[in-house]
Formats: sequence, structure tokens, C-alpha cells
Amino acid sequence: MLAEPSAIDARHVPEPLFPAVNAICRISAGLSAKIAQGPLGQSLGDHVGGTGHGDDQKALDVIADEAFAAALPGTGVRYYASEERETAIDIDPEGRLALAMDPLDGSSNIDVNVSIGTIFSIFEARETAEASFLRPGSEQIAAGYVIYGPHTALMLTFGKGTLHFVLDRQTRRFELVEQAVSLPARTREFAINTSNYSRWVKPVRAYVDDCLAGENGPRQGTFNMRWIASLVAETHRILTRGGIFLYPGDERPAYRQGRLRMVYECAPIAFIIEQAGGRATDGSTPILSKSASALHARTPLVFGSSNEVTRVATYHDEPEDEVSALFGSRGLFRA
Ligand code: F6P
Ligand code: MN
Repeated sequence: MLAEPSAIDARHVPEPLFPAVNAICRISAGLSAKIAQGPLGQSLGDHVGGTGHGDDQKALDVIADEAFAAALPGTGVRYYASEERETAIDIDPEGRLALAMDPLDGSSNIDVNVSIGTIFSIFEARETAEASFLRPGSEQIAAGYVIYGPHTALMLTFGKGTLHFVLDRQTRRFELVEQAVSLPARTREFAINTSNYSRWVKPVRAYVDDCLAGENGPRQGTFNMRWIASLVAETHRILTRGGIFLYPGDERPAYRQGRLRMVYECAPIAFIIEQAGGRATDGSTPILSKSASALHARTPLVFGSSNEVTRVATYHDEPEDEVSALFGSRGLFRA
């Protein structure tokens, strides 16, 4: 029997990681085909339940999670953690890797034909699943995401830059298109869900106020805004042309630490962004220096063009009750 062709060229992946990364690519290529069927295929956007830790579950969330889990035996993965599962599962006691995934990111966009994705993070496995995943993001050995958009792309890092691949739908292989993705340090475009404006922490409100103040405000110019509501799609845009993304903490009881999850959303995105020359923080502290307190723990997330992420941190340095008065009054915040 002929071996199945690989879904990514082995030369681009460190050898111990190849079976796992190849399996992720193979399943992602299959998901890409399924998603492209839209309403001609099985219904993917139906509500099927909740995750038990605060998110809706759509049919495609479950399909993706089960497909990835089923592909992992024999790939060197010891523990698999997923947004769709309460706890991590044991795949193979001999495995050396711990894989965390958001199998289907942006699931509110499935039915509306807007880009969605898959995010993953790999650590070296330790004795327990907890010890494997609840550690600083800087200890990741690989991270990546797949975006299912007009074309399907993969951004991948092993800590030596960020690689950009595009899925060839004919061969079902991800082909390298860019060896060293680099995002611009400066930007005039921000992404945030402004409907939460009145509930945001003050430093974020002050930062956005200053961006919106236009020619006569402290930024002395205008900003553009985007909000897709798929983290992978915002990340892809920012890696392509720069920008800043913010999902801050807000007053809603479940959102004090924002919405996004440290282990399988924020840490891998931060790794990919930093390897492309950008920055990622929780507002002030680098995401990669932080450890999650629990598998599904949230953290505020600010990432993108380095100058802008650094600027957001300066607003967080101000005392809470003074920060809203920055507007127009401080030389530090000009331009
Ligand atoms: O996975 C969570 C997620 O869907 C992200 O992809 C996206 O950035 C965010 O939530 C959108 O949140 P909201 O619906 O609050 O704008
Ligand atoms: Mn997600």
C-alpha cells in the first residue's frame, strides 16, 4: 500500500514535531473542503450545546474537535486539550508532546460565510496534563493557526520566525509562500468590539478615545477600525498589513479577564505575532511571560504592531482615575 502523501513538506518542520503537525494539516485540509461546501454539505452552524465554560457549541466545533483527536494516536502527542473538552485527554503515554487546540475559532461566523480557523499550541509534555499546559507561553515549542477564508492559509512558528503556507486544494498540501513573515511596527488601524465601550477598563477606553479624536487629538490623525469577530481572521489581517487588536477585560461578570482563552488562543497567537516582529500583552504584561491558572482561563489580549501595543501599555501605567484625562494634555501621548 502506498503511504498517504504528507500534507506539509517535512523539510519545514522539526523532525519530532512532524507527525503531529502533519496530522493537523491533514485534518485542516479536510475541514477546509467541508467548510467550502457551505449549505451544500452537512449543516455546520447548528447550535448543539455549550462547552460548560461559557461558550456556545456549534456542529462544526464538535466535528473539528473529534477529527483532530482521532488523528493524534501515533503522532507523538501525549496530551490533547481542546476548547471543546472540559479536561485534557490522554492520547499516548509514550508521547512527548502536549497539544492544545481551539479546533474551530470564530464559530459565530460559520453560517455567515466569513473566515473561521483552527488555532494550536504545542509544549513538551510533562508528567501531568496540568503541568504540561499551565506554564509560561514562552515555553511553547510550536504554534500555528489555519484560516479558512477565500483561500486556506497556515501560519506556523517553531520559534525561528513565522512561516506562511497556503493550501493547494488540488494536492491537499500546504505550500510555503513566505519564509519570514514580518508585520509593520507602525499602524493606523485598530480592532476592538466597540459595543462594549462603556464596560471596558479605563486605559482601553482612553486609548480608543485618543485614536478616535482625529486630526486635532493627541494622535494628530485618523484611524481606521475593523472587527471580524474571528480571532484568526483579525490575526491574519494584522500579520499581512499591520494593526492592533484588543479584547480587554470589561465589567460583565464573566469578562473581567476578557473573553479569550490563554492556553489555546492567546499564547499561540502571541507566539506567532512575536515571531513576526509584533508584540502581545494583556494590556501591560507580555502574554508569553504569563501562565494560565486553569485550562480554560481567560486573559485580556492586546497584540499587533509593536509601537501601538507599547503605547497601550503606557495608558495602563497611569493611575486608573487619571487615565481618562490623558486626552490632549500630555506630550508623551502625542502622534
Ligand atoms: O473564540 C472567541 C471569539 O469568537 C474570537 O474568535 C473572536 O475574536 C471573539 O470571540 C469575538 O468576540 P465578540 O463576539 O465578543 O466580539
Ligand atoms: Mn476561539
